[in-house]
Amino acid sequence: MKILFLNGPNLNLLGTREPDKYGRTTLAEIESQVRLRAERLGTIEIDFRQSNHEGELVGWIQDAKGRFDWIVLNAAAYTHTSIALRDAITAVKVPTIEIHLSNVHAREDFRHKSLIAGACLGQIAGFGPLSYLLALEACVTDNPR
Ligand code: DQA
Repeated sequence: MKILFLNGPNLNLLGTREPDKYGRTTLAEIESQVRLRAERLGTIEIDFRQSNHEGELVGWIQDAKGRFDWIVLNAAAYTHTSIALRDAITAVKVPTIEIHLSNVHAREDFRHKSLIAGACLGQIAGFGPLSYLLALEACVTDNPR
C-alpha cells in the first residue's frame, strides 16, 4: 500500500508556529512518527511532502493517480479557499482523507468551512500530530463503507 501525505502552506513552520494552537512538534518529527507507525503496520510505503504553493499541491494530487492508494491531506489554509484542490481530488479519485492538527470547528468562523471536505472520504481534526496517525490507521483498516 502506498500513501501520499501532503502538507500545505506554513506547515513547514510547525514547532515554532503558534505553539498554543499547533504544539511544538515539527513536521519532520510528525513524518518520523508516521514512518515508524507505518513500519510497525507492515508493508506500507509513505511519501511525505510539504508545499507553500497551491499549484504544486494540485500537481502532486494529479500525479497520485495510479501511483498511490491513498492521499492524506492537511491542506492548511487552502482548505478554506481552494476549489482547485477540491477539483483535483475529485478528478483523480484517489481516496483522500482531510486532516488538521487543530479543531478547525472550534476556531474562527472562516475555518469552519472546508472547500475540500465534500471531495474527501472523511475528516480528522483536533488531535495534533495524532491526526496524522489516525489517518494512517483509517487507510490500513479494512472499511467496507
Ligand atoms: C490547519 C488548520 C487551518 O485552518 C490552518 O490554516 C492551518 C493548519 C491545522 O492543521 O490545524 O494552517 O490545517
